[in-house]
Amino acid sequence: MICHERAGFRVGPFFFLPNVTVTSALFHFCNVCPTPRAPYCECKEKPVGNRLLGKIVAITGGSQGIGLAIAQRFAEEGADISFCYRSNKAGADEVAAGIQKLGRKCVGFQYDVGIVSDGQKFIADSVAQFGRIDILVNNAGLERNADFWNVTEADYDAVLNVNLKGLFFITQAFVKHRMDAKTGGKIINISSVHEELPFPHFASYCASKGGVKMLTRNLSIELAPLGITINSIAPGAIETPINTKLLNDPVKLAALLANIPLKRLGKPEDVASMAVFLASDESNYATGTTFFLDGGLTWNYQEQ
Ligand code: BGC
Repeated sequence: MICHERAGFRVGPFFFLPNVTVTSALFHFCNVCPTPRAPYCECKEKPVGNRLLGKIVAITGGSQGIGLAIAQRFAEEGADISFCYRSNKAGADEVAAGIQKLGRKCVGFQYDVGIVSDGQKFIADSVAQFGRIDILVNNAGLERNADFWNVTEADYDAVLNVNLKGLFFITQAFVKHRMDAKTGGKIINISSVHEELPFPHFASYCASKGGVKMLTRNLSIELAPLGITINSIAPGAIETPINTKLLNDPVKLAALLANIPLKRLGKPEDVASMAVFLASDESNYATGTTFFLDGGLTWNYQEQ
């Protein structure tokens, strides 16, 4: 469907213009345009639908980067959003207000995913606030750059606690909630191409993402009888705050682009599109799988 127009009650008369199907001259039901308008809304170029209408989604790390793009896109698709963020309250409030303007419910909770009890509280608070959660997006993540022999225990813990341990126990809390609800659920992990591809000087990050890969496979089997699917997305280089340093270093950036057959970095919205598919009923037969989204980076090998 083109445009943010909402399916549902419509009022005639109907008009048909080139490339535009106008559903009502009196009212326009749009998630994005601030006021109902006729005959059609200005945001008609953006491809969205109502694939997540009525769903309640919990997203870790929802105030920036990929998590933010997923929160916004899911809301545009009709979902209500609960997200957590670590520190930027002003940014989180802005995100929540923006989503509420779309006509969706949205609450941001300040929790550190790297602390197990915080993650558990995030799930409990989300359920208390929204009544239930249908879909969990494990997005929060971080990386530390160091030669292997210089990696400190503190840096190792920071990376593994958020990327793997935190994800593990938030997923466990979500699964317990869905077991009580007895109606299945969906889990989407934002992993990385580095669950497969080595990333020298980022050993702890690779270890964490390799762990996410095997957790995804393992849980797909354990959770299938509960009607819960679990899949990962493996983004390559995406324009997000995690890559700020790289984006400001022309030499490193050029070297990276040389490795990407599509010759550009991905955008958070690219990842959000894949996440919509995995959150929607269109992906119901997918579980235990990682979907790569990397402009061709992972399998790029050129010799002659
Ligand atoms: C990392 C980025 C890196 C990209 C491609 C991502 O998982 O977070 O730092 O540029 O993979 O290598």
